Amino acid sequence: MSVLIKNGRIITATDDYVADIFIDGEIIKAIGKNLNIPATQEIDASGMLIFPGGIDPHVHLDMPFMGTYSSDNYETGTRAALHGGTTTVIDFILQTQGKSLRSALNEWRSRAEGNAVGDYSFHMAVTDFNDETKKEIKEFIEQEGITSFKTFMAYKGALMIDDRQMIALMQEVKKQGGMVTVHATNGDIIDYLTAKHKSEGKLSPLYHYLSQPEVTEAEASSRFVDMAEYTGCPSYIVHMTCEGALNAVRDATRRNQKIFVETCIQYLVLDASLYENDFEGAKWVMSPPLREKKDQASLWAGINQGLVNVVATDHCPFKWEQKKLGEKDFSKIPNGHPAIEHRMELLYSEGVHKGKISLNKYVEVACTNPAKIFGMFPKKGTITIGSDADLVIFDPKAKHTISVDKHHMNVDYSSYEGWELTGKIKTVLLRGAVAIDNEKCLVEKGNGQFIKRNKVQGYI
Ligand code: URP
Ligand code: ZN
Ligand code: ZN
Repeated sequence: MSVLIKNGRIITATDDYVADIFIDGEIIKAIGKNLNIPATQEIDASGMLIFPGGIDPHVHLDMPFMGTYSSDNYETGTRAALHGGTTTVIDFILQTQGKSLRSALNEWRSRAEGNAVGDYSFHMAVTDFNDETKKEIKEFIEQEGITSFKTFMAYKGALMIDDRQMIALMQEVKKQGGMVTVHATNGDIIDYLTAKHKSEGKLSPLYHYLSQPEVTEAEASSRFVDMAEYTGCPSYIVHMTCEGALNAVRDATRRNQKIFVETCIQYLVLDASLYENDFEGAKWVMSPPLREKKDQASLWAGINQGLVNVVATDHCPFKWEQKKLGEKDFSKIPNGHPAIEHRMELLYSEGVHKGKISLNKYVEVACTNPAKIFGMFPKKGTITIGSDADLVIFDPKAKHTISVDKHHMNVDYSSYEGWELTGKIKTVLLRGAVAIDNEKCLVEKGNGQFIKRNKVQGYI
């Protein structure tokens, strides 16, 4: 199969020009003006933008969590991602405390293999770092192409590690050429506030928000940044939500320290007023919670300042029946919200269309930086000769409305119901094959490939 895409406006993290793209098999083979190469399929992209396939480095598919499973599996989740222009996702394997990393990897592989529609990779979440786990780090990086290790400073008793384990893990990961990523919130303070609110009979979703104030994230981020400086380990903070946490990273730049920062689309466009709607607020119960307007402003500015490097989703959907597990107690509401399908269009509409970020910045944070930071560049994350032909053909003028009736995620409500967007995905190619065309998915489950990642370079 070969494809010739004519006259699209090609946007990368650095370029913006009109040209043709010739794809042979899975790879971009030529880019130029008026290419005259015979191809099996020709696509007219006049008036359209062409972006690299989006990369969402923070998703939870089919994940056992808080007594249930996230409702999108590899098939439904990666298909919804493709509909939304995201061609590659990185999911989190969770180690069970007391068990090996390898046994968790086997479990996650059995969920993903043969089921993924789009491409995927794994981060390995280390929830129990000990002498046995330590031996597995090198193996994961060198043999499995899994080069990033997630840690939790909260969710005590299930996922959280203490600072002793964190430092030791960072030293080992640095030695072996990987990266440590972190859910940076102070688990002890959150547990204290959660118990206090419950004992006072304060049980609605609002108290999920009030149990995780900004200080819990600012303190943990600052502590993590210091541990990263001490160990020299390449480090990445996931789902950053607030000004206080961002200031910890800003401060670190004064000593020329680089910490990679991810925020998620919801923290840029939604705020904590949504928790005031009684149990309806459960739709947005996630950790960390939504914050204030001033935090949104800090995050948008942080993107333009080069402090926030990635916009992901932390896609972790639960159906309404699952959310209702916490109807009488906010601490039992499964944490997470569905967004995998909407990241690229929301970020374009709210960011580029509304003038907050440039087109190049859009591609940088949604496609290129995730590929660079997580060792997939230039195979993924850009449009150049030799790259995988993962491409999004995007109509910047088309208007549409988000609704549960139209989305492809396996969840029975939308956290963005009725949102009117400008800019719409028209066609998505994954490794040279048209995967989505005018809202139809043309590839089957099993089409998605596992992407082995390279060692981390520690800069972008
Ligand atoms: O609420 C969230 N974020 N759920 C998924 C697990 C995590 O903390 O990322
Ligand atoms: Zn988290
Ligand atoms: Zn997460």
